[in-house]
Amino acid sequence: MSNFSILFALSITILLRLAHCHIIDELTDVDLVELDQKAQKQKLSRFRIYWHDITSGTPPSSIPIVKPVIKTGFGQINMIDNPLTLGPELSSKAVGKAQGFYGLASQEELGFLMAMNFFFTTGKYNGSSITILGRNAVFDHVREMPIIGGAGLFRWARGYVQARTHDLDLKSGDTTVEYTIYVMHY
Ligand SMILES: *[C@@H]1O[C@H](CO)[C@@H](O)[C@H](O)[C@H]1NC(C)=O
Repeated sequence: MSNFSILFALSITILLRLAHCHIIDELTDVDLVELDQKAQKQKLSRFRIYWHDITSGTPPSSIPIVKPVIKTGFGQINMIDNPLTLGPELSSKAVGKAQGFYGLASQEELGFLMAMNFFFTTGKYNGSSITILGRNAVFDHVREMPIIGGAGLFRWARGYVQARTHDLDLKSGDTTVEYTIYVMHY
């Protein structure tokens, strides 16, 4: 290498270093507003509700929006606005809706990707929601899915749900699933 190319490489290195420092300096200049130094106490709550996937009925609460192209069903996607109730009966007290979609994401078994918001419409939690995103192998006795966030009173929510099939009507395809929700929130 000639003296010139060594010098050139050296100056590029120094320039990059300087640019890097400059970015860091700019970041430290960002005006961070500390909203609450004494963070409130986080709570861990547990509650149980029932999720009704009604594919029969008029109108259904769960409709296929993408039909599978292969026999296994892989690729099917359902959009849902499923009732959430306190008890296992659909006629029991309504607490909200499960809104979102689920899709058959496994080629080997009935394994779904669930992406939904539990939107609550009663009492203190009226208008608040939690967001669930996870894997649901529906023939497993217990399926665990993460709670990845929330809104309203569930702001900053983290946690998980455990889903257990309560009732499956093979003729209509309607399903009731018990959801036990473990959620950390403020
Ligand atoms: C929930 O909130 C909505 C919108 O603010 C309101 O219209 C409704 O009456 C509330 N429902 C209950 C059960 O409090």
